[in-house]
Amino acid sequence: MRLDRFLSNLPRFNRQDVRQLLASGRVRVDDRVRRDGHDEVRVLSRVELDAEVLQAGKAARYFMLHKPPGVVSATEHPEHRTVLDLLDEPDKQELHLAGRLDLNTSGLLLLTNDGQWSRRATAPAGKQPKVYLVDTADPIDPACIEVFARGLYFRFEDLLTRPAELQILAPRQARLTLYEGRYHQVKRMFGHFQNKVVRLHRLSMGAIQLDERLCPGQYRVLTAEEIASFCPD
Ligand code: URA
Repeated sequence: MRLDRFLSNLPRFNRQDVRQLLASGRVRVDDRVRRDGHDEVRVLSRVELDAEVLQAGKAARYFMLHKPPGVVSATEHPEHRTVLDLLDEPDKQELHLAGRLDLNTSGLLLLTNDGQWSRRATAPAGKQPKVYLVDTADPIDPACIEVFARGLYFRFEDLLTRPAELQILAPRQARLTLYEGRYHQVKRMFGHFQNKVVRLHRLSMGAIQLDERLCPGQYRVLTAEEIASFCPD
């Protein structure tokens, strides 16, 4: 929310008060004086007026989880266990997922309470690579390499997929790098070649690699470097 809106939502200030408060340098957000009403106030931001705390803010939290198959990428579900069930953290309902995986897909999943960060991590314009290990029912046709690199037409969305990189590792196994995340994208790409994906595992998102020390179902806090990898320079 914009800072001027945040302030004028408080019952004691009208718009003119807000302008004066900002101009006089009495408002601080995250320890910095803010004079521009267009600046953003987040749930995580601490907002102060002189010595008074208007919003305490919250610590930003970031986790990577090794998602096992059979657990749903959601915060609630009527039938299945969710990825949140795997976390033993206070106030975990405040977390959300930065990108999803299908029920039977395993691998790297990021969770945070920082909406701005997760938008950067998943924004299509950010073109962050996502790397998957794919096992298929039938041998992989080498023609996939060129077709995936050119882009495939997805009729439902009426779009051409972004150029993707396929590296065939074994007759039925490949590493696929995507620069977007369309619904069931990997399965649909191989489906174009009538080849069923029997196992799908995400290895990385941007510069963040799934920590090999995490067994399926385990998680850890992201390092400062991993968090910064999705922040603008
Ligand atoms: N593509 C898929 O088909 N499924 C996933 O879970 C991720 C990418």
